Amino acid sequence: MSAQKRKFRSAQSYGRSDRDGFIHRSWMKSEGLPHDVFDGRPVIGICNTWSELTPCNAHLRELAEHVKRGVWEAGGLPLEFPAMSLGETQMRPTAMLFRNLLAMEVEESIRGNPIDAVVLLGGCDKTTPGQLMGAASVDLPTIVVSSGPMLNGKFRGNDIGSGTDVWKFSEAVRAGEMQLKDFMAAESGMSRSPGTCMTMGTASTFACVVEAMGMSLPYNATIPAVDARRRVLAHESGRIIVEMARRDVRMSRIVTREALENAIRAIALIGGSTNAVVHLLAIAGRLGVPLNLDDFDRLSEGIPLLVDLQPSGRFLMEDFHYAGGLPAAFKGIAGSLHLDVQTVSGGTLREIVADAECFNPEVIRKIDNPACRPSGIWVLHGNLCPGGALMKPSAAEATLCRHRGRAVVFESIEDFKARIDDPELPADASSILVLKGCGPKGYPGLPEVGNMPLPRKLLEQGVKDMVRISDARMSGTAFGTVILHVAPEAEAGGPLAIVRTGDEIALDGPARKLDLLISPPEMEARLAHWRHSKPAPKYTRGYYRLYVEHVLQADTGCDMDFLVGHSGSVVERESH
Ligand code: FES
Repeated sequence: MSAQKRKFRSAQSYGRSDRDGFIHRSWMKSEGLPHDVFDGRPVIGICNTWSELTPCNAHLRELAEHVKRGVWEAGGLPLEFPAMSLGETQMRPTAMLFRNLLAMEVEESIRGNPIDAVVLLGGCDKTTPGQLMGAASVDLPTIVVSSGPMLNGKFRGNDIGSGTDVWKFSEAVRAGEMQLKDFMAAESGMSRSPGTCMTMGTASTFACVVEAMGMSLPYNATIPAVDARRRVLAHESGRIIVEMARRDVRMSRIVTREALENAIRAIALIGGSTNAVVHLLAIAGRLGVPLNLDDFDRLSEGIPLLVDLQPSGRFLMEDFHYAGGLPAAFKGIAGSLHLDVQTVSGGTLREIVADAECFNPEVIRKIDNPACRPSGIWVLHGNLCPGGALMKPSAAEATLCRHRGRAVVFESIEDFKARIDDPELPADASSILVLKGCGPKGYPGLPEVGNMPLPRKLLEQGVKDMVRISDARMSGTAFGTVILHVAPEAEAGGPLAIVRTGDEIALDGPARKLDLLISPPEMEARLAHWRHSKPAPKYTRGYYRLYVEHVLQADTGCDMDFLVGHSGSVVERESH
């Protein structure tokens, strides 16, 4: 049978002349759809996370119209539907708490509706991963159209970067180096258009991951949100998803082990966010592709940081796009990539990279002149993190990557905020700040608080970085010698729970070691005491309870235990 003659999944609803066919079509005709659009053509779902509460996605209704143009043009029937939008800067206690809820909504929306393929429209940090997790568990033909980065921020004639300069300015105000009125003026110049954070934060990182995996058209990660070429890309993606539906090119054919390895190497190449680790682990878990935490360290070994973007470097996403985008950056590490993987474009990565060109070697460095060595993500092990922990060496102070110091412990984020600026805090520049209670179960939701602000008294002495350890994440826009995702988290009884102020901790990043320097009997005695005095569960109803009872630890991607894997697209029963 030719691809054109394929009987689509949607025909179970729209291709019948009985009572159920009447019901499925008739109510859709109330939207003004003519009878002949139910002639067996592929139905394309457009899963849209537009929301005014997610400014990064605020332009997605307009972009969806361009996807629809392409779908109509190619002979499909486009049907847009909403999915929970997770605005990173608005949601409390953290958007990450709801990533799995979005994934559940997306999964069941795709499976329950008569659609044959899906376009995922998203962009803010958790929207794209949540959409991909849900889509992976259904496994229809799938393509991503990202929001695209916002325009570069501007302040007093200089470019400023989302997040990264917020952290810098905030510390400058606390150190008395910047006036509050200037801080407020920078706020108005930072976010000048729709689109995602324009540093190499989590949204930009994950858009690059999507492109590296072949789940979007080339340049999807970097074309600015407001650039007409993004509307063209949306239009072309609409055409392509119809062809993917006809050829039944499912997500599992694109996101293979090789594609995931390309994505991990891309993260090292761009100085990407540590947050991509939990999301990629979760997506791989949905697809049943073997991937573990140590793969991130092993596969990024030797990959140079060639894309000189904040927070690890100097430039912003607009600059990256004008310099040639991800395909041009890939040229520098082509020998380390699986170039023959299939992409949604219909071609291979080899063809995309062959067409690419670098227009600015300051932004996309040459292989013999990297922006930073080492790059990638270090996965630490030791008695303080039996399940592992992460650090991003390109964002860390090189002299602190090997460090031994005394812990200053904060039992919760409230404890931290109450005491960090206390002049009596027993901390000096060699201390190690330890924050507990910020893991998936503890906060709940694994928030971005791991890049703890430094004590004011040390900032005033000129201290710019300290070793910080927590079971939290940090924003992809943040920087510092920050050890994150300590697993198991304190709330789950990990050794982090029993660290005390004054304990000595040894970090050896190059050797991938993180240890609490107490004896094994002392550690066991403290853990036994912790287990004995653990308080009762705090959340007794609703989604919070479901999440806390079922969320997995950061070393396996923080999916819920019952959501790992996939159920396919078959629904056997009718609705009436
Ligand atoms: Fe949405 Fe940064 S806050 S991408």
